Amino acid sequence: MAGRLNGKVAIVTGAGRDGNIGVAICEAFLREGAKAVIGTDFRQEEAAEISARMARLGVGGAFELVEQDVTSQADWARVADHATSAHGGIDVLVNNAGIAIHSGIEHSSLDDLRKVMAVNHDALFMGMKACLPALKDSVNRFPGGGSIINNLSMASYMPSGINIGYHTSKAAGRMLTLCAAVEFGPMKIRVNSVHPGLTMTPLIREGLADYVKLGRYETVEAAEASIAGLGALGVSSQPEDTAHAFVYLASDEARFVTGASIYHDGAIGQRY
Ligand SMILES: NC(=O)c1ccc[n+]([C@@H]2O[C@H](COP(=O)([O-])OP(=O)(O)OC[C@H]3O[C@@H](n4cnc5c(N)ncnc54)[C@H](O)[C@@H]3O)[C@@H](O)[C@H]2O)c1
Repeated sequence: MAGRLNGKVAIVTGAGRDGNIGVAICEAFLREGAKAVIGTDFRQEEAAEISARMARLGVGGAFELVEQDVTSQADWARVADHATSAHGGIDVLVNNAGIAIHSGIEHSSLDDLRKVMAVNHDALFMGMKACLPALKDSVNRFPGGGSIINNLSMASYMPSGINIGYHTSKAAGRMLTLCAAVEFGPMKIRVNSVHPGLTMTPLIREGLADYVKLGRYETVEAAEASIAGLGALGVSSQPEDTAHAFVYLASDEARFVTGASIYHDGAIGQRY
């Protein structure tokens, strides 16, 4: 059956936690005919469960969850080499892994800021650099060329007084994406970003619980309703919804799209 990603090889970071966006992207890519999807994460506790879920899809594409710390250049070299030697190249890189430390400048240390920047920003640079040689070859297989998709956030364009590292790193990720789009365009590699709004995953549930601890909301449910209510649609997203945006950007349907931001946020940004 013709899929939108038939024959492509993809790396998706942050895919080691069931119920998260990375796992949903891997699943969507496999459903669309990807030849191989390499999920990576430093968490491996749920590897068997996630691999079993992908096997149950009954599609032909290979899936593996590879251990990787996205802040390690050595790990990036290993993952890029593995994709090329085991699967013949890299067509799509999704920089999806992310972390948050919920506090403002007053109660954050410089180390807190650096930790968040390392995962949410520096790792994007490392991933793009490590995968670049392989991505250059993608155009010889697919007319749309290589595709890099950075998972940023509505946080990249909305300020926050209680989440300094997260918002700053995501905003910096947007400029990194734009610069890479300009640099890599002549190499036929497209670079785009997706900016999810409130998407109900383990990360966001933990984040909402932190807001409750900080006294901003009474309960996690109240926090979800309040934040989702800021958007025009008034509801939160599910990881499977968010994954569709990545399928489009990874596919050759988006062959003329680079340097673009998909605001997958229910128009929450309209308030700012
Ligand atoms: N859920 C939302 O509402 C939302 C909104 C906007 C943006 N995002 C972004 O989407 C991405 C995925 O978020 P999620 O909600 O699925 O979160 P999640 O915590 O469920 O998933 C993030 C994954 O990244 C992994 N990770 C963290 N640090 C790592 C490291 N150093 N090396 C390797 N893996 C690492 C974690 O183990 C985890 O599996 C993040 O970049 C996040 O900022 C999420």
